Amino acid sequence: MIELQQVSKTYQVHNRVVTALSGINLKINRGEIFGVLGESGAGKSTLLRSVNLLERPTSGHVIIDDVDLMLLSAQDLRQRRRHIGMIFQHFNLLESRTAFENIALPMELLNMPRAAIQHEVSSLLELVGLTHHAKHYPNQLSGGQKQRVAIARALTTKPEILLCDEATSALDPKSTFSILQLLKEINRKLNVTILLITHEMDVIKHICDHAAVLHHGQLIESNTVVNLFAKPASIITRQLVQKALHLELPGKIKQQLEPEAHPDKSLLVRFTFVGDDSSLPLITTLVQKFNITINIIQANIESIQDAAVGFTVCQLSGDHKAINDALAYIKPSSITAEVLGYV
Ligand SMILES: Nc1ncnc2c1ncn2[C@@H]1O[C@H](COP(=O)(O)OP(=O)(O)O)[C@@H](O)[C@H]1O
Ligand SMILES: [Mg+2]
Repeated sequence: MIELQQVSKTYQVHNRVVTALSGINLKINRGEIFGVLGESGAGKSTLLRSVNLLERPTSGHVIIDDVDLMLLSAQDLRQRRRHIGMIFQHFNLLESRTAFENIALPMELLNMPRAAIQHEVSSLLELVGLTHHAKHYPNQLSGGQKQRVAIARALTTKPEILLCDEATSALDPKSTFSILQLLKEINRKLNVTILLITHEMDVIKHICDHAAVLHHGQLIESNTVVNLFAKPASIITRQLVQKALHLELPGKIKQQLEPEAHPDKSLLVRFTFVGDDSSLPLITTLVQKFNITINIIQANIESIQDAAVGFTVCQLSGDHKAINDALAYIKPSSITAEVLGYV
């Protein structure tokens, strides 16, 4: 339902051209939670703001439900934008208005009748769990509560799409988790498609169905979140996954690790499994079939969406050819083997 085709954006800064986005192609299905991950300056905010043309791409197409927004008149675009809500890292609430009044604002601007506004705000306050904070001003609310107000305000126009720009980046881990839960609930209950951008893989892991990685304005890869974690195609994604899942090797092993093979050293491999597989049958098979020694260094199981993803780091020693044969043997299976080096 949201489709970006060859979207590029450049900014002219003095005499320099800054490329924020370059040839982005992206498809987001209705009803899903889609995450875009990238470091600071990667182009995430520019990409998000391209979806409602708050930032007009220099070239390309932004198509929502078969309508190319780039071709709409200013008035038609305003109309369309009403169906796209947005929330921000720093909440953007009016300090002089209570929670209730902040949520009411977009409806006041549309000249909705008072009774309808009253009714709508009350039910939104309930949805975001702030019924008892209606009369509180932003400075009387925690960060998480402020973001709840901002979410309620974004929902007043009954959007089909919610754009979230680092919505949890200013929050502590506990509030982050509760806001992510709320976004998930809104997605399921109201069938709102959510596009969120973040520099934190953890956020992606918690609520996204699909995610893409943005790097220097380019889309590096896009996949289901499980596959992004289990089979990252690029080095950049792999590094982000390892950081998010705390897959760093134990200090002692890390110190000994060398990139080149050596007769006295054994091969260090990380096996990744998805679903109900376990590493044990694989290890037993490899030991028996290829007559090699396998020593388990580290094992983690992560729950990602509804799947279990297992990571097992093993030290393989024995005949060089036998080890190569063992790795070749598992290649066609769903298990991935990543050579980390030699210890
Ligand atoms: N209005 C602007 N004028 C000039 N350069 C901009 C503007 N907005 C963003 N940029 C540049 O575009 C790049 C991407 O920025 P942005 O989309 O904000 O990245 P992110 O949200 O991933 O941190 C950066 O190099 C940034 O400096
Ligand atoms: Mg940004």
